[in-house]
Amino acid sequence: MSRTLSADETCVLVTGGAGFIGSHTVVELLERGYQVVIVDDLSNSSPVAVDRIKTIVGPEAAQNLTFYEANVLDRDALERIFSAHRIDRVIHFAGFKAVGESVQKPLEYYHNNIENTLVLCDVMRQHGCKSIIFSSSATVYGDPDALPLTEESPKKPATNPYGWTKWMIEQILTDFHTADPEWNVVLLRYFNPIGAHPSGLIGEDPKGIPNNLVPYVAQTAIGKRDTVHVFGGDYDTPDGTGVRDYIHVCDLATGHVAALAWMNGKTGVEIFNLGTGTGTSVLEIIRAFSAACGHEIPYVIEDRRAGDVTANYADCTKAREMMGWEAKFDIDDMCRDSWNWQSKNPDGYATAQ
Ligand code: UD1
Repeated sequence: MSRTLSADETCVLVTGGAGFIGSHTVVELLERGYQVVIVDDLSNSSPVAVDRIKTIVGPEAAQNLTFYEANVLDRDALERIFSAHRIDRVIHFAGFKAVGESVQKPLEYYHNNIENTLVLCDVMRQHGCKSIIFSSSATVYGDPDALPLTEESPKKPATNPYGWTKWMIEQILTDFHTADPEWNVVLLRYFNPIGAHPSGLIGEDPKGIPNNLVPYVAQTAIGKRDTVHVFGGDYDTPDGTGVRDYIHVCDLATGHVAALAWMNGKTGVEIFNLGTGTGTSVLEIIRAFSAACGHEIPYVIEDRRAGDVTANYADCTKAREMMGWEAKFDIDDMCRDSWNWQSKNPDGYATAQ
């Protein structure tokens, strides 16, 4: 058994804690009284996000946050961090995440995502910390045979190196537990995270042209892009466009806190889907976002994007029954909060003070 600890005596290392999902999770952790150490190299995030986290949680909770600008591949830096803090649990978000780029740069993706996990776990075990929550993805289900997807649905071959890194790291962490049953591993398979903190202070800040639908829609709504390109109008779905299970990033954040509480004092490997259980089409997203921003968002239907599946959505019964967690926000909430973030920060963190 790992040690059972109350929130205020638990120190959580959050890799990638300045990123989109990481920053929202850190807010939730600090608000629940956890001590948090962020390690982030800021390669795809901003120090402004860390300042904004402190603004949201207030000065008292902010005292429980320590930020290190370091790359998880840097073993010496990790050693120093683990020596300076008694880390009890790790939430591992840090990794490259652009699907298209991963096809162009497989070596960089495998090296960064897999090697950083190996370095992290090696340093963890040397310091007696064997509890980890890993950011996995519904991408491991590939093209599903049946919906909704449960945790027992088969893993399918990934369609790109990014997806393979998620797939392989799940296996690697499972193998660690097989070899050493003291490991306490939770694999969280996210569906499609969107939305932003209701304060509008933190949100998704993609570099360059967004690959994912909602950031693209948001940039079109603010006038940075001319029109949304809808990838495929001939899918076997009610309106012909792809269907996904979009989940508010704040719900995802509470899912991590629920997983921390659930894993407390246990060992083993457990997988949880984090979604809403509801499928939403591309056109439904565009409509909901148009309502949120108050004007019609132009779109054009184009060819399908290679590697996209027709539809996926989660069965989240397991997370509800075992962790007592379920998503609270609907699509309108998600679009409202994405728009609030986008309209208050048209250039993301770039021009923030
Ligand atoms: C994508 C990744 C997935 C990753 C996830 C992270 C692919 C094939 N999959 O999921 O591995 O875990 O992001 O968030 O890239 N769409 C448009 N126009 C756009 C962008 C997307 O019509 O400009 C459509 C897509 O065809 C899809 C839906 O919107 O039907 C959602 O796409 P996206 O946001 O990229 O997420 P996924 O493809 O589901």
